[in-house]
Amino acid sequence: MPKQVVEEPSLQQKFAELERKNQEALVGGGEKRLEQQHAKGKLSARERILLLVDEGSFEELGKFVMHRSKDFGLDKEYYLGDGVVTGYGTVNGRLIYVFSQDFTVFGGSLSETHAEKIVKIMELAMKNGAPVIGLNDSGGARIQEGVVSLGGYADIFYRNTLASGVIPQISAIMGPCAGGAVYSPAITDFILMVEKTSFMFVTGPNVVKTVTHENVTSEELGGAFTHSSKSGVTHFACANEVECITYIKTLLSYIPQNCEDDAPRLPYTPGNEKRPALNNIIPANPNQPYDMREVIAGVVDDGTFFEVHKNFAENIVVGFARIAGRSIGIVGNQPASLAGVLDIDASVKGARFVRFCDCFNIPLLVFEDVPGFLPGTDQEWNAIITNGAKLLYAFSEATVPRVTVITRKAYGGAYDVMNSKHIGADLNYAWPTAEIAVMGAKGAAEIIFKKEIAEAEDPAAKLDEKVAEYTQKFANPYRAAHRVYIDEVIYPDQTREKLIRAFAMLENKVVAQPKKKHGNIPL
Ligand code: HXC
Repeated sequence: MPKQVVEEPSLQQKFAELERKNQEALVGGGEKRLEQQHAKGKLSARERILLLVDEGSFEELGKFVMHRSKDFGLDKEYYLGDGVVTGYGTVNGRLIYVFSQDFTVFGGSLSETHAEKIVKIMELAMKNGAPVIGLNDSGGARIQEGVVSLGGYADIFYRNTLASGVIPQISAIMGPCAGGAVYSPAITDFILMVEKTSFMFVTGPNVVKTVTHENVTSEELGGAFTHSSKSGVTHFACANEVECITYIKTLLSYIPQNCEDDAPRLPYTPGNEKRPALNNIIPANPNQPYDMREVIAGVVDDGTFFEVHKNFAENIVVGFARIAGRSIGIVGNQPASLAGVLDIDASVKGARFVRFCDCFNIPLLVFEDVPGFLPGTDQEWNAIITNGAKLLYAFSEATVPRVTVITRKAYGGAYDVMNSKHIGADLNYAWPTAEIAVMGAKGAAEIIFKKEIAEAEDPAAKLDEKVAEYTQKFANPYRAAHRVYIDEVIYPDQTREKLIRAFAMLENKVVAQPKKKHGNIPL
């Protein structure tokens, strides 16, 4: 028998095989499923990455990864890449790592190997100190794989936690995100959701109906509107995927690459920093509202305020901005919503933002106009004590440069909490309209002069007299300035100039802290 000769493939054939595999990987779950994805108004996993990164910068890793499972027909169905595109690239010239789940492959479900790919880029990101962006579009755990899929999720959650405070982590939800899958985004720093096409919930409408007999749609239960306004789970609700990617890029422009880096600084040319319009914002009547965003816009570099968590707990405003080109984080009470009172949601929203800024060396600027904490059984029974303490704790532990401007009310415990000098703020300014006291003059007079008022011939006139006395004594910034709780009382139109100088002066701030493993923030 003549010996059979197996011909070695030529170099050309080997190159052709690589080309064929590359092409195969590009189509994910196939053209038909890609069309279905587009028909839903959704981009593909690769299209999303290309929108995010600088042109030509994306380097894919793990393109030919295939799942290892053989159960339930998986031995006959393989897709190169296994439902997630991973790699690195640049956004505005800065390195980022990205994973983008491909719904056309088993509904973007997470298999053991899919998880391994995500873990791989998370580890690279931590070693090299750059943000991880997750573009989520997944039916959750790959049901055919059972526990290895759950293990894969846990591997990701664990890395999310290790990476927390080391590198920024951003999650965009661009399709379903159900079951335990929601917990990876929840551990990350910011969540963005696309309106109408994305949802997040631990259990879907069917399970809800069975267990609680509630009829609710996916959108009502866990759509972008719900999570941006009711639960606060998401920080940004985006009209579409393009807007979502644009927000991610904007967000990245304000934050550093890692906890040892500084945020990018833009060039700044000093000029006339007086802002006369600021003198006309506070209404003559101290009980009249105004929009704290007007104060913020008047102080920061033109058009740079980028609000975070805009639709949630509107009584507090948080976001990034630039002052003389420097990135800063802003927390402001919002008199235009519930008089700017601090409640549970506002405290949690503020605390989370303060902690992000402190993790990543972003100085904090606080605008204060707060009548106190919100009273009531609803607040007390839902733990305003514990939740209010989060904001107090977050400010107290922050070591970044911290400056406060009291525009009007600074009452009661809220005075202490809102970045007061006593809990470590570096510089505290007040406008002449500031009222720094234990409570509003009327409430105070009613309590401390109760007997005198009751016994007066004309109790109403007596109350007015005592209110005037209390107002004259305390509804001003000068008592606090006498004790240097306020460093300077300034005209509103000087605020921008003062802050530019203040943040420049504080640029090299160093704080020595007691040795500890980590603090125990009230959760
Ligand atoms: C495997 C899945 C899948 C999954 C979807 N697919 N989810 N395959 N595992 N989890 C597949 C479908 O079989 C289908 O395959 C394709 O993806 C598209 O799914 P459709 O149902 O046709 O799409 P759509 O109508 O848009 O509905 C999307 C969906 C739905 C809402 C996500 O598929 C769904 O409810 N999936 C299951 C969700 C779920 O219960 N996941 C497990 C959660 S528990 P073909 O071949 O037809 O294209 C969990 C535990 C994690 O995640 C715990 C961590 C702590």
